[in-house]
Amino acid sequence: MAKIKAKLIIQGKEIELPIVQGSMGYPAIDVSSLHSNTIKTFDPGFSSTAECSSSITFVDGGKGELLHRGHPIEQLAEKCEYLDIAYLLFNGELPNSREKTGYIKSIKEHSLPHDQLNNIFRGFRRDAHPMAVMVGVVGSMSAFYFDENMKVNNQNHRKLSAQRLIAKVPTIAAWSYAYSQGRPFVYPKDELSYSENFLNMMFSTPNTKYLQNPVISKAFEKILILHADHEQNASTSTVRLVGSSGANPFACVAAGIASLWGPAHGGANEATLKMLGEIRNEGRINEYIKRAKDKTDSFRLMGFGHRIYKNKDPRAIIMKATCHEVLDELGLRNDPIFKLALKLEKIALEDEYFVKKKLYPNVDFYSGIVMKALGIPNSMFTAVFALARTAGWVAHWNEMILNENSKIGRPRQIYTGKLRRDVPNL
Ligand code: SDX
Repeated sequence: MAKIKAKLIIQGKEIELPIVQGSMGYPAIDVSSLHSNTIKTFDPGFSSTAECSSSITFVDGGKGELLHRGHPIEQLAEKCEYLDIAYLLFNGELPNSREKTGYIKSIKEHSLPHDQLNNIFRGFRRDAHPMAVMVGVVGSMSAFYFDENMKVNNQNHRKLSAQRLIAKVPTIAAWSYAYSQGRPFVYPKDELSYSENFLNMMFSTPNTKYLQNPVISKAFEKILILHADHEQNASTSTVRLVGSSGANPFACVAAGIASLWGPAHGGANEATLKMLGEIRNEGRINEYIKRAKDKTDSFRLMGFGHRIYKNKDPRAIIMKATCHEVLDELGLRNDPIFKLALKLEKIALEDEYFVKKKLYPNVDFYSGIVMKALGIPNSMFTAVFALARTAGWVAHWNEMILNENSKIGRPRQIYTGKLRRDVPNL
């Protein structure tokens, strides 16, 4: 069947371009041959640009749909654990019971970082942001776990590196917090689940036991599942771009952590709580809504809006339900900060500006509130996002290397600088 083509007429010249269609979602014009016609496309922020093909995650922003390897996020959040999702994202299918047992065993075996890694923490000031520490320590893993005998083109080496990252990042995240509190590191325990281990390393000390609360560990597990992957977001695209040069996988994930840190991306959960603290009471909500709508004011409503979702973010719907469950089960329904958040959400959702621009609360609006209710400090919200997203980053990195059509990423530009001119005689 003749391939559908797009016709471009540029300076009187007709250029035919193939249309590519994936298994779901709207089609794309393949412009990869355009450079030979000495013309480029221009798309700041890549709003209309597909950089790769991927079979890991599908997002339909219009419908508010999110699928991981075809499975709806609502069903995954209901029926699975985070490590099921990590396995699914990397391998393409959910694990059967034998596969799951082996996978969990491997993750547990790799959960302890090299003992010398502890020294890297000591190079940071105690008040360093946990994300600064995570960028540094995860980046330093490239010097411990990926020597000249490890090759990115070796599937077993990629699988081992992916499992090492999924296993060690929670330990590094928890130790980043313990370090900031001047507390000794607590080690992962074999008998605890992935979420229980993180919470134990965060909140217990060598001489005080952390009492696991199933409400908290279940809600935390849901946070990890909802943040595991989201197709070509800024941090995942960063991991892919860094990985496209054949870079060390631990350096790639460190770059992803750095990108996620920004308040426009994964830093939005921490920024949401900071914003709620600044608004302080319901009487000031309208003042901030007004500022968010004022083009001359750089203030934006943190936790609202999304590049893709112009309908409800399906993760936010699940996170909101978890938020209400946790607030009720922990008796926090009347906590002022949570009441303020729910009031802000109500006012914004009824405001014409937000309705018209289709700015809904995103996953970060509610995840910050839930993490605060779970006792996780604001400074650790994005670190939790990073440990959850590690599963998505390594899955996309692996998929990119596996794709023989992958090339080093090298975007072009529109040059707006000086025309050619001689250096003056100095
Ligand atoms: C995540 O990409 C992903 O998948 C990300 C993520 C993932 O899982 O990886 O889903 C996680 O990063 C979620 C987003 C978290 N960020 C925030 O909550 C920060 C607040 N949100 C905004 O900064 C903004 O909505 C973005 C960055 C999320 C999206 O920005 P876009 O797509 O570039 O949208 P835009 O800036 O073009 O906004 C469109 C319009 C603009 O007004 P006009 O110029 O058309 O008049 O909406 C306005 C914006 O000013 N707008 C907002 C707003 N977000 C957009 N106005 C007030 N408050 C906001 N939050």
